[in-house]
Amino acid sequence: MAAISTIYLSNLKKNDKLILSAESYGTTLQLGGKLRDLGVEVVVSWPETEKIIESIDKSTKLVLVETITNPTLRVFNIPEISKVCKEYGAILVVDNTFATPYLYKPIKDSVEIVVYSLTKYIAGHNDVVGGAVISSREKILEMWDWRRMLGNIMQPFEAFLVIRGLKTFELRMNRHCSNAKIIAEFLREHPKIREVLYPGLPDNRYHEVARKLFRNGFGGVITFRIKGGESEVVKLMNNLKIIKPAPSLGGAESILTYPIISAAMTMPEDLRKTLGITEDLVRLSVGLEDPEDLKEDLDNALKNT
Ligand SMILES: Cc1ncc(COP(=O)(O)O)c(C=O)c1O
Repeated sequence: MAAISTIYLSNLKKNDKLILSAESYGTTLQLGGKLRDLGVEVVVSWPETEKIIESIDKSTKLVLVETITNPTLRVFNIPEISKVCKEYGAILVVDNTFATPYLYKPIKDSVEIVVYSLTKYIAGHNDVVGGAVISSREKILEMWDWRRMLGNIMQPFEAFLVIRGLKTFELRMNRHCSNAKIIAEFLREHPKIREVLYPGLPDNRYHEVARKLFRNGFGGVITFRIKGGESEVVKLMNNLKIIKPAPSLGGAESILTYPIISAAMTMPEDLRKTLGITEDLVRLSVGLEDPEDLKEDLDNALKNT
């Protein structure tokens, strides 16, 4: 959020238009909404490529989308949005936290600003909080003063942990992606599971666009719906032995998150429901464990729901 707040405050002035996707990290939306008090026009668009594109006009200053949305894992066609932003002179910011540079590099599609929560895959060990902004030298220099003024500066030990994590980034991502595919396929066949949302599954709505955009796989996060809703989700979380219930992702350990009480908690309830973020929905950040252990853990925990 340090990176995102720096981007917002250094790029937006009174009367500028900011376009956000309705499915975004809750705090990105919450902070964006606060900018209305400073005179910024904030438009929250339906989270599909065409709807974001329709919202862009001459008064648009900044558009912020996540390559893969959280938690229902929609995939935006970033090159198309980037093209329209260029036509209107708007700055496109892509939060590439879920996709990571292992799958996709938005800069190659002329995206002006890319942002990462380093807390997740880049650092990768669930032991540090941080953010990064990637852009042209010119744009970074504009934001540099704001970083100092806002005090959004990472401490040396945290920076060390991120750099150390980065050394195994590619190896970890390879395993996250292959493990996630195995677990997605396993859960899809499970009698206690209603639906699995993962862009790596061939029948997923976003599989085609994901295939076009991504190299190396489809990411390490999968989302699924459990038959029976909230009470079954709670039982599942209590029954798991290896997978930990917690609100983060991208680390070595597998983590199961309940979006309605974590990232989507600050979202208005009707919007949450329209987006499909319902009480039966859980998100799994598939870690680096042996996939057979993860399958067994899920199977045992689901049997007792
Ligand atoms: C897509 C995305 N962007 C930004 C953030 C904020 O990251 P941090 O907690 O490192 O400030 C999160 C946190 O979950 C996220 O999922």
